[in-house]
Amino acid sequence: MNNKYELIYEGKAKKVFSHEDLDKVFIEFKDDATAFNALKKAKFEGKGKLNCLISASIFKLLEKNKIPTHFLELKNEHTMIAQRIDVIPLEIVLRNIAYGSLCKQTTINSGTILKKPLIDIYLKNDELNDPLITKDRIELMNILSSSDLDLIINLTLKINLILKSFFKKIQLQLVDFKLEFGYDANNEILLGDEISPDNCRLWDLSQKNDTIVSLDKDIFRNDLGGLIEAYSEINRRINNSI
Ligand code: TMP
Ligand code: ASP
Repeated sequence: MNNKYELIYEGKAKKVFSHEDLDKVFIEFKDDATAFNALKKAKFEGKGKLNCLISASIFKLLEKNKIPTHFLELKNEHTMIAQRIDVIPLEIVLRNIAYGSLCKQTTINSGTILKKPLIDIYLKNDELNDPLITKDRIELMNILSSSDLDLIINLTLKINLILKSFFKKIQLQLVDFKLEFGYDANNEILLGDEISPDNCRLWDLSQKNDTIVSLDKDIFRNDLGGLIEAYSEINRRINNSI
């Protein structure tokens, strides 16, 4: 980014810069990948650009479906302009199929189709390793009101319906995903962060047999190889469908 803009925040996969309009920010998507709270790190050339383009397309789809998001427009292929928000320190995970940490922490078998979506909420705190948190603890910590928590949960359920049917049309199964929300200058809740194969599990439905083919960050988590090819395939399918 042009150095007239101040770096406000650097996360594991993105940098946030100031904008001349104080209500906006630039979000630059990095090529870095981390997993297991950054115990595992790598760089994939082109990942930042792919995640930025995929997220922009998904945010546009959600806006069209009346979901308020922070996305405004693309500045270039790896940078978006977004509304500045105060990020709520919670990670909202919605699961349609049991996989990942749910199966490590419970006796539910991997691949079980859940009768209704499961919402797991984690405290966004790297030092504490993003622990699973309860509604009562959220209230105790004064993170947000119970009505705003309900609002976020309802938005997440609605986003799931929109994304599940969109991804199905492009032969992808939406297994689970993670969302983050924040407050804008008017105190409205907006969907923030990104929606990309870094924070969604997407399985390829175009396979002939029942084997699971992950087209998401599990490729990196599990050292499967071909991450850029998989993310490019997701971007290609999205572009062909819009
Ligand atoms: P999990 O099974 O590891 O809890 O992950 C559930 C979903 O949340 C999966 O789509 C990956 C995503 N996720 C993130 O985006 N960031 C994280 O830090 C974690 C742990 C998961
Ligand atoms: N996002 C987390 C990390 O950076 C964990 C993950 O996605 O698996 O380590």
